[in-house]
Amino acid sequence: MAVGLQGPLRGLAVLFLLCVLPRAEGRKVLVVPMEGSHWLSMRDVVRELHARGHHTVVLAPEVNIHVKRENFFSLETYAVSYTEEEYSHIVMHSLLGAFENHHIVKLFVKSVQVLKNMAVLYYGSCTAVLHNKTLISHLNSSSFDVVLTDPVYLCGSVLAKYLDIPAVFFLRALPCNFDSEGTQCPNPSSYIPRLLTMNSDHMTFLQRVKNMLYPLFSNYFCNIGFTPYANLASELLQREVSLVDIFSHASVWLFRGDFVLDYPRPVMPNMVFIGGINCVHRKPLSQVCIGPFPVHVPGRVP
Ligand SMILES: *[C@@H]1O[C@H](CO)[C@@H](O)[C@H](O)[C@H]1NC(C)=O
Ligand SMILES: *[C@@H]1O[C@H](CO)[C@@H](O)[C@H](O)[C@H]1NC(C)=O
Repeated sequence: MAVGLQGPLRGLAVLFLLCVLPRAEGRKVLVVPMEGSHWLSMRDVVRELHARGHHTVVLAPEVNIHVKRENFFSLETYAVSYTEEEYSHIVMHSLLGAFENHHIVKLFVKSVQVLKNMAVLYYGSCTAVLHNKTLISHLNSSSFDVVLTDPVYLCGSVLAKYLDIPAVFFLRALPCNFDSEGTQCPNPSSYIPRLLTMNSDHMTFLQRVKNMLYPLFSNYFCNIGFTPYANLASELLQREVSLVDIFSHASVWLFRGDFVLDYPRPVMPNMVFIGGINCVHRKPLSQVCIGPFPVHVPGRVP
């Protein structure tokens, strides 16, 4: 297929082939999902890839909440060092924590702790794959054409880089401007609101100051969550690998977003917006409750 093509071009060629080839020409896709709701949207893509005759293998830890065996992909699980109880305890703890009302300092300390626990868990799950020579050699010899992964869980991208396979990212958003750095996309902080700042694309002077200072704060969290993967990649590839190197391994970025929802910003040609994918399972609205009375939506039989 894309013999002789380099990096991003190779990935684009694979994506093109995945989209247009007839059934008989199925490709092999290795899927490294992020757990939880992230997987639920990716699952629809995997189902569609299967429908178009591609062979997908989903790689997931044997302890997980949502990634279950289904007839439209092969599931390959691997052992991890934590139990189901430990995993659900930490996940539930972090979810419930998000709804508690705390003083900002206490909230900060708590969030750091929860993030550290989650980061250790996911990183452990990643090393269970990447340090397992048998599994790596099996994946390597399976000759996958592309890795489809959610970069929130950076393991898939490190794995793709290690096996020298193009990667396609599937995501809603990334913190710490990793997407603009990974794609070398202009990202001026004077009018692109940073994630979670609540700024809009029209900022006052003080909001711009906040927008510029915010990364100092968010980078602290990103360091906890992401930097270990740069160290892991450096160890495996036996050379200095930065986070930007890992993010820029992706040939195509599929964003589950749309400028109807998000403020406008510059994009690169390999950043594709597929927000409509979240509406795959649409259901007609039946009744909308405003105030104490149910309101009938016009055109619907009650
Ligand atoms: C490595 O992976 C293989 C194949 O998935 C598995 O059988 C083996 O138990 C794993 N080894 C370790 C140390 O987890
Ligand atoms: C994968 O296999 C190729 C060809 O045998 C080899 O050159 C390469 O080092 C292997 N990669 C890994 C990560 O084992």
